[in-house]
Amino acid sequence: MKTLYEEIAASSRDATCCVSTSCRESAWKLSPLQGGAGGGSPLIEMEQIAKVFKTIAGEFVALKGINARFYRGEFVSVVGKSGSGKSTLVNMLTGIDHPTSGKVRVDGVEIHHMHESDMAAWRGLNLGVVFQFFQLLPTLTLLENILLPMDFTAKYPPEERDERAMELLKLVGLHELADKIPAELSGGQQQSAAIARALANDPPIIIADEPTGNLDSRTAATVFEFFAGLVQSGKTIIMVTHDPSLAQRTTRTILLKDGEIVEKTDLD
Ligand SMILES: Nc1ncnc2c1ncn2[C@@H]1O[C@H](COP(=O)(O)OP(=O)(O)OP(=O)(O)O)[C@@H](O)[C@H]1O
Ligand SMILES: [Mg+2]
Repeated sequence: MKTLYEEIAASSRDATCCVSTSCRESAWKLSPLQGGAGGGSPLIEMEQIAKVFKTIAGEFVALKGINARFYRGEFVSVVGKSGSGKSTLVNMLTGIDHPTSGKVRVDGVEIHHMHESDMAAWRGLNLGVVFQFFQLLPTLTLLENILLPMDFTAKYPPEERDERAMELLKLVGLHELADKIPAELSGGQQQSAAIARALANDPPIIIADEPTGNLDSRTAATVFEFFAGLVQSGKTIIMVTHDPSLAQRTTRTILLKDGEIVEKTDLD
């Protein structure tokens, strides 16, 4: 079996091209990607996003009025100490959790105003999400985990899905483990599978919460190169990371501290 992610950087452009071919039009699809970093209007806008958690000990303010803009073709890293609010911010961007107040607009659509089922369909087509703790379905094989988002959105015809899922697993070096369930894999392999799943519907936006957190430094570097290749081909990526050497190599970095953005390389 090939080393994880070997050749990915080299093949990312082809893979992206290949996975784009048979896509069907959809009402929820984002308008065509235009321009590069900073070009045109923001693709994603966060306006005064606050998140308050109610706990036994009382209210806890995890995000304190976040304002941020992300442009097409950007590769933005989000950094900050543990507990600074990075995953909470990601959950606001993906619509997986609701803000206590504030707005998130993606290509002009106010995502938190969508009905739950519309939101799921919209997310399935437009966002590839890599969760911090993978969130692979434990009773499904890797192949089935990758097929699930495709089955859900029906972007690709049923007869193409198996081949496409295997292609994605091959991309992350897991094709020989397609029939395994997540518990039979290492943390790094599960993380890789989660990355493959995020690419299932060839989404224009990828939001990844510590996608390299469980990978050795060599594999992490290759994943990063792969992401950089996706950005080159027009994707927009927002990536939480603890690794300063990776953050340094993104288009720009947002630093969170105690639920606030304390530093950013500005395009706003
Ligand atoms: N569901 C919740 N209920 C109560 N508090 C929460 C909840 N989710 C997160 N928090 C709190 O909000 C703060 C931010 O959490 P978050 O998970 O966003 O941090 P993080 O920056 O992603 O940390 P890490 O680097 O460890 O992943 C933390 O203090 C956390 O305990
Ligand atoms: Mg987190």
